[in-house]
Amino acid sequence: MSEPEIVVVPDPEIGAMRAADIIATTLADAVGERGDRADWATTGGSTPIGIYKALLLPAARDGIPWGQVHTWWGDDRFVPSDHPLSNARPFEDILLGAGGWESVHSDDRRGRVNIPAGNVHPFRTGEAIGIGEDADDCARDMAAELRSAGLPENDGWPVFDLILLGVGGDGHMLSVFPGSAAFDSRAWAVAVPAPTHIEPHVGRVTLNPAVVTVARRVIVVAYGSAKADIVATVLGGTVDPSKWPAQLARRGGATWILDEAAAAKLPR
Ligand code: 6PG
Repeated sequence: MSEPEIVVVPDPEIGAMRAADIIATTLADAVGERGDRADWATTGGSTPIGIYKALLLPAARDGIPWGQVHTWWGDDRFVPSDHPLSNARPFEDILLGAGGWESVHSDDRRGRVNIPAGNVHPFRTGEAIGIGEDADDCARDMAAELRSAGLPENDGWPVFDLILLGVGGDGHMLSVFPGSAAFDSRAWAVAVPAPTHIEPHVGRVTLNPAVVTVARRVIVVAYGSAKADIVATVLGGTVDPSKWPAQLARRGGATWILDEAAAAKLPR
């Protein structure tokens, strides 16, 4: 297994800036190489908040051809998009601005990025819930939307130019928890029952973990002393992704951005 690049930064703010820099460079390069678009799967949880704010800074924001960048989500909670637990909501609130999805065409660009509405592909949780569909339906709809987007494929999986990930305290990534049935599925997206061992205890929808193994570039971000044990385990000796799903991001082409607290138990 070729190992990832590990970048240790003094604090989460520097980490967010570093991640934003890599995101901007990766997306701009991908559009240049593919000629028309780049496909980025972003993450949920608290980690991306600072990164989205760093992407608003001109150095990153103005280097990204937003009109050609398609943003997807690696996973979401099966809640409406305006719910506090939604993984899509921070992207909307920070990068699209207070006006939300419908504001993408407005002229008021206060600190926002100019993202065409058709470039943003959240899990359609709100729509599914609104018509009485369940998380399985929502996952199937996402897989269909992804297939119709025509991303390049490798081994039958969609190849994202970039996937941004966090790491759960149990070693999960996306909403792929230890022992997940997603490892045995060929579906591009699946529903996940509400986990009982980790917050939030709500049902999820997630991309298949295999997308992390075929992505052109992966960024994993983890901050804080609470992540030190799991980071040391995931990046340590024993490799068993079914036990520690985040190990699928322990690969070449991946950059792990850790603050000193999260990296504290790594061998020097
Ligand atoms: C989610 C995320 C999940 C997250 C990790 C880390 O839906 O919660 O996609 O995989 O990345 O749980 O979360 P934090 O960034 O909040 O530590």
